[in-house]
Amino acid sequence: MPSTLRDIILQVKENADIVMIIGQYVPLKKAGARYLGLCPFHHDRSPSMNVTPQMGIYKCFACGAGGDVLKFVQEYEKLDFIDALKTVAARAGVAIPADILFSKDDEDKGKASQALAANQLACQLYQEELAGNAEVLAYIAGRGISDETRKHFQVGLAPQSADKLLKRAAAKGLPNQAFIDAGILGQTEGGRVYDRFSGRLIFPIWNMSGHVIGFGGRILAAANAPKDVHAPAKPASPKYVNSPESPFYHKSKVLYGLNFARNGMDKIGEAVIVEGYMDLLALWQAGIRNAVAVSGTALTKDHVQILSRFARKVFMFLDGDEPGRKAVRRSLEPLLAQGLEVKVPVLPAEEDPDSFARKFGGEKIKELFAQSEDIVGFLLRSAAKPVDAMSPEEKETLSQDCMALLQTMPSPNVREEYFNELRKKLGLKTIRVQAARPAYAPAGTASAPLAKASDAGVEKADMVAVFSGAIPGGRPREEALAEWQLLQLLISSPAMSLAALDSVKLEWLQVDIVRDLVDHLLAFVEESGSFAVKGFLDRLSKEQQDTVTGMRMLEGQDAAQERKHFGGILFALELRFLQKRLTLEKDLAKHMELKKSISELQSKSKGGPV
Ligand code: UTP
Ligand code: MN
Repeated sequence: MPSTLRDIILQVKENADIVMIIGQYVPLKKAGARYLGLCPFHHDRSPSMNVTPQMGIYKCFACGAGGDVLKFVQEYEKLDFIDALKTVAARAGVAIPADILFSKDDEDKGKASQALAANQLACQLYQEELAGNAEVLAYIAGRGISDETRKHFQVGLAPQSADKLLKRAAAKGLPNQAFIDAGILGQTEGGRVYDRFSGRLIFPIWNMSGHVIGFGGRILAAANAPKDVHAPAKPASPKYVNSPESPFYHKSKVLYGLNFARNGMDKIGEAVIVEGYMDLLALWQAGIRNAVAVSGTALTKDHVQILSRFARKVFMFLDGDEPGRKAVRRSLEPLLAQGLEVKVPVLPAEEDPDSFARKFGGEKIKELFAQSEDIVGFLLRSAAKPVDAMSPEEKETLSQDCMALLQTMPSPNVREEYFNELRKKLGLKTIRVQAARPAYAPAGTASAPLAKASDAGVEKADMVAVFSGAIPGGRPREEALAEWQLLQLLISSPAMSLAALDSVKLEWLQVDIVRDLVDHLLAFVEESGSFAVKGFLDRLSKEQQDTVTGMRMLEGQDAAQERKHFGGILFALELRFLQKRLTLEKDLAKHMELKKSISELQSKSKGGPV
């Protein structure tokens, strides 16, 4: 049977000795069933990175970095996934068939590579078209873009009609369908094909390895646009037209200019994020070579994760006006949650990076960067009025908002420093946390970073409140704890996960994340007849994997202790379930029946281990 990429990935993970491979980068020391080492993904002073060979994963309890052996090599060596796979495969002695590295399906593979070839052809044609149009060249020059920058970014111009493109495609033997798949050509109901970017200034968009995966096309003023006497009058069109999503172009994952900026970012560990194509070109020309553009979309978790491979510090360099600051506010959570340091350079309200770079040049931009606000500075300055002018109630609202955001930072030490800064700047002695919504499990089951966040003017008793807010459904901590403990035990003990098949009822579980995971786990055990964490992880979504890998494994319990622990959890879950039903039951006979079940359950649990 021919193997798929998925098969190969599993085979590589199966054969790779994670301790040996990570051990080649970081010295590891055995500690029980795990290994400990200094985490290479943050400035680690005492060993915070755990490697758990049984699960095939590593996890840093200080910065939150974690994943499987492929992820480690990918992050450490800053490779893309396929290159990391090749590296690990070589060390694990797994041969990768050459044809596997593209797509699992030959037809898809052919289609995708034809669409990429279509992009490449269009990119070339558009550049030639621009080079021959004096008017549009003058427009670009008028905006301060040099020939060198224009060529570097392969800026182009789409002709009004699709004829040139079609002709050249035919000469190259590329079917029209490839251009339609790539989103370059559209088709009217009458079957006529047209260029979706026609008459627009073109910014090609690349993936990390520099292949053209899409385009952004800016409208040109009528005076600049190439003329087409046959073109019908058009209704008002949007300022930019962008390529549609395709298998190789996902807006939520692409950062414009990353192929050029990655080295610059990596060198100094800093990244600059701007809004638009023109901002990016202007910064490049001003000598700032570590910038990427989000191109009008929101900054996503995926974007941030990619950035974090190159940079620890991110300058959010958006427009100086109110919408610009709002956009910065919206991107804070994914950035902070990833453990990145956020800096916000303050632009005059009427400027964007493009206009500022053109007027003042690179040196001034660097000054602006040096004077950036930190996260707390930004949050306070974005408030409706100065702190001094606020009532206690207004301060309270503001501090709760800020705390909720700062809570998402993975490092307890860093979080503490910002808590302190916030407290001082607000002129408060302590800040009581009322509610927050970090997405992790309660203390005791998972490596909840919050558990350590004390003494920052945040009162310990209030942490419990934070946890109850963290648990989906908002149930009190004690109730949810048994559910998390069940999950923890099941992933730690193959024997108990087998036993769970007959004894755990999903209706007892009320925390959605836990119920879904236990459901998956039981289905997995049922199908494979046993439990193995590695195989289980492969079935889960990325988020579910993070939840599981973030949990502490139970160690050092013998079989009898495990059974006792298991029995205790089941008792708590079933009792809660029955009691809840009791409170809802109106029918007297059923009410009595429930009462009987409850007292039976209670006496059974007193009579010894279940
Ligand atoms: P801007 O309106 O600031 O455009 O949108 P710009 O790139 O600075 O262009 P100039 O300076 O007016 O020539 C910022 C970014 O938002 C996306 C584009 O990626 C743009 O670069 N955008 C904007 C769209 O995708 N569609 C739109 O209609 C407008
Ligand atoms: Mn602009």
